[in-house]
Amino acid sequence: MRFDVVTLFPDLFRVWAEQGVTGRALTRGQAMLGLWNPRDYAEDVHRTVDDRPYGGGPGMVMKVAPWRAAVQAARSGSGDHRVVYLTPQGRPLDQAAIGEIAKAPGWVLIAGRYEGADERLIESCVDEEWSIGDYVLSGGELAAMVVMDAVIRLLPGVLGHRDSAREDSYMDGLLDCPHYTRPEVVEGRSVPAVLVSGDHEAIRRWRLQQSLGRTWLRRPDLLERRGLSDAERALLEE
Ligand code: ADE
Repeated sequence: MRFDVVTLFPDLFRVWAEQGVTGRALTRGQAMLGLWNPRDYAEDVHRTVDDRPYGGGPGMVMKVAPWRAAVQAARSGSGDHRVVYLTPQGRPLDQAAIGEIAKAPGWVLIAGRYEGADERLIESCVDEEWSIGDYVLSGGELAAMVVMDAVIRLLPGVLGHRDSAREDSYMDGLLDCPHYTRPEVVEGRSVPAVLVSGDHEAIRRWRLQQSLGRTWLRRPDLLERRGLSDAERALLEE
């Protein structure tokens, strides 16, 4: 998987790209990251990347020419991947969408700034628009990192064996179960007895039951969409 990010703040990504699970995947070459700064493609002496909006009003608008030149450089340098503009107006992403995104060979992500992009930039070089949620960030950088993090951890070999197994059993549309580690008692609160019973089948059932219960309480919308098997319904009603 290759991500090429068009951004005015490439340093933000350089720090991010060295940390944690995603950092390890990038260092190992399981994922690749290219960074493209529109400022490097601006042709005037001030290296202008934004300008005042036609019609007036506050804020600045991303200029077509430098952003489009950076997007084109990102595309041609990396295999003509599809171009995505991150915006609260985009298609809302969920785990299923992330799974689909992870199947592509790569993406060019535009992390915008200011009040938005000149509409002609979107018309002329954007294939898709994605949103990470119904709230407004001051730029698309964090949204790009959110998407890349969620995708990279799904790539084969990125998570350790145990994490991937957990992923399989719990991410099929349910919230995760509670977790505990040592010590067994913290300020009078004990680990649920089943988890120290050594009975693997009982533990599996308890975890699924917890996942179902949590999802039902906290995110009934997810259960509604996903449905329940007869066995799951019985566990939930137990
Ligand atoms: N840029 C600003 N807010 C955003 C959001 N919610 N999703 C994606 N990109 C954004």
